[in-house]
Amino acid sequence: MAAALTIDDLKRQAKRRVPKMFFDYADSGSWTESTYRANESDFSRIKLRQRVLVDMTERSLAGTMIGEPVSMPVALAPTGMTGMQHADGEILAAEAAEAFGVPFTLSTMSICSIEDVALHTRRPFWFQLYVMKDRDFVYNLMDRAKAAKCSALVLTLDLQILGQRHKDLRNGLSAPPKFTPKHMWQMATRPQWCIGMANTHRRHFGNIVGHAKNVTDMSSLSAWTAEQFDAKLSWDDVAWIKDYWGGKLILKGVLDVEDARAAADSGADAIIVSNHGGRQLDGAPSSISMLPSIVEAVGDRMEVHIDGGIRSGQDVLRATALGAKGTYIGRPFLYGLGAGGRDGVTRALDIIAKELDISLALCGKRRLTDVDASILMGNPFRSG
Ligand code: FNR
Repeated sequence: MAAALTIDDLKRQAKRRVPKMFFDYADSGSWTESTYRANESDFSRIKLRQRVLVDMTERSLAGTMIGEPVSMPVALAPTGMTGMQHADGEILAAEAAEAFGVPFTLSTMSICSIEDVALHTRRPFWFQLYVMKDRDFVYNLMDRAKAAKCSALVLTLDLQILGQRHKDLRNGLSAPPKFTPKHMWQMATRPQWCIGMANTHRRHFGNIVGHAKNVTDMSSLSAWTAEQFDAKLSWDDVAWIKDYWGGKLILKGVLDVEDARAAADSGADAIIVSNHGGRQLDGAPSSISMLPSIVEAVGDRMEVHIDGGIRSGQDVLRATALGAKGTYIGRPFLYGLGAGGRDGVTRALDIIAKELDISLALCGKRRLTDVDASILMGNPFRSG
């Protein structure tokens, strides 16, 4: 793991260890992938202001996200089928996040279940909810998340219907996966991955199979997921979910100022400015380009967080300078996981923390909580 100096190094290692259809599942965006690419490339348009001869000793990245202490404001984003990047992937990622002191968010579409992750962690994790048409299932998921002492519900708003990812279609990857001889070959060429999978019983969607009505195996799960995402979701749904949950609520997938105002009106604790990592509306702006106008509109009413395209500590610094109170990484931790399990996720967090710490100092700051737009050479995404 020590050989990996950048998130890109971890990505290359993951590509060698994870079967192609699962690596591609992580490394893909919708249609032409223009939004996926813009999420990353727009960060480099934000220039940091180099300062000298400022006391740079005793620095701190620590702060809070929705009132919870964090060693740095970088959470692990919810990602589906994480247990297919590496056996027991969600458990290993949650353990790494806990040891690092950052939040872990478990996806509704995870392989390891809420209970699996709770059993292996002490720090309360966050649970991401997709609102399915089967409302009994949704209530049941929230009950299970409460019983597991999850400290926040992350409600995803930007997946009422599914964007299309060409790589998944070409690979014949479905949720749940149905394995063909081509897939078998892809797996056979990744022996370490296969050994891990052979040694775990966690190979299906642990939050769904055995919990949703009539979903008892992979084939009934397939039919169920195909028709369960709810195209009718509305702000009224956010209201009853907030009431029923009763705890901290984070709304994920807001990319528009008007939607951000509605989110603030809903009384949520935070929003995540996000385009689902460029996996939904191809042609939508990058997350970072929308951050300033959303912070200006609602930043005094709720915490504004961001995900999409963060690949370095410098990116975390840029997002913080533009007003984000928290950031999330999706693919960077998945690459770490695929490359080396728990150690790989830790490595991804280490890389980002070190880059963040040194860059903070080179901008003449000692505390991340002191960072604002004054550490930037202007703002290419000025609001308004
Ligand atoms: C995701 N994302 C996601 N979001 C969500 O709310 N629920 C989910 O189950 C998933 N699943 C998922 C799978 C994979 C493989 C990826 C890459 C992403 C979106 C995710 O939470 C986050 O918004 C993006 O990953 C952030 O972009 P980066 O950091 O991957 O560039």
